[in-house]
Amino acid sequence: MSNRTLAIIKPDAVRKNVIGQIIAKITESGFKVLGVKMVHLSKNSAQAFYEVHKERPFYGELVDFMISGACVPIVLEKDNAVAEFRKLIGATDPAQAEDGTIRKLFADSKAENAVHGSDSDENANNEIAHFFSKNELV
Ligand code: CMP
Repeated sequence: MSNRTLAIIKPDAVRKNVIGQIIAKITESGFKVLGVKMVHLSKNSAQAFYEVHKERPFYGELVDFMISGACVPIVLEKDNAVAEFRKLIGATDPAQAEDGTIRKLFADSKAENAVHGSDSDENANNEIAHFFSKNELV
């Protein structure tokens, strides 16, 4: 069990101007922010980030969406961070997400679902390294 995960506030939520509300919800839930930045991903970078989904039918749509505007990757720390953050964001499909979760509050669809959360400790470490160098983290 690791204590770090990678969150991304996705382009749909950035366009809705709810970065602050989402970060407030995250910190109110006991996560500490170790690193945060705003980036506009290149196609190559988005394809590499979502390499694990390369064979999925929605891969092209997912990459196009993630490069449609800026996003906000955030490194978070909490005990059992990966599972705790996935609980906070709710199901991939906001229609299935529980009340009070970030996707229930801010997401519109399975594709435009406001936030990303790492799904394993191994992926969290790789995803953090995708966006942050060691000297960018507290
Ligand atoms: P994320 O947590 O970033 O990880 C993979 C992403 O793929 C997921 O959130 C969704 O945004 C996206 N995704 C999953 N299923 C679908 C789908 N059926 N159609 C479009 N996008 C999807």
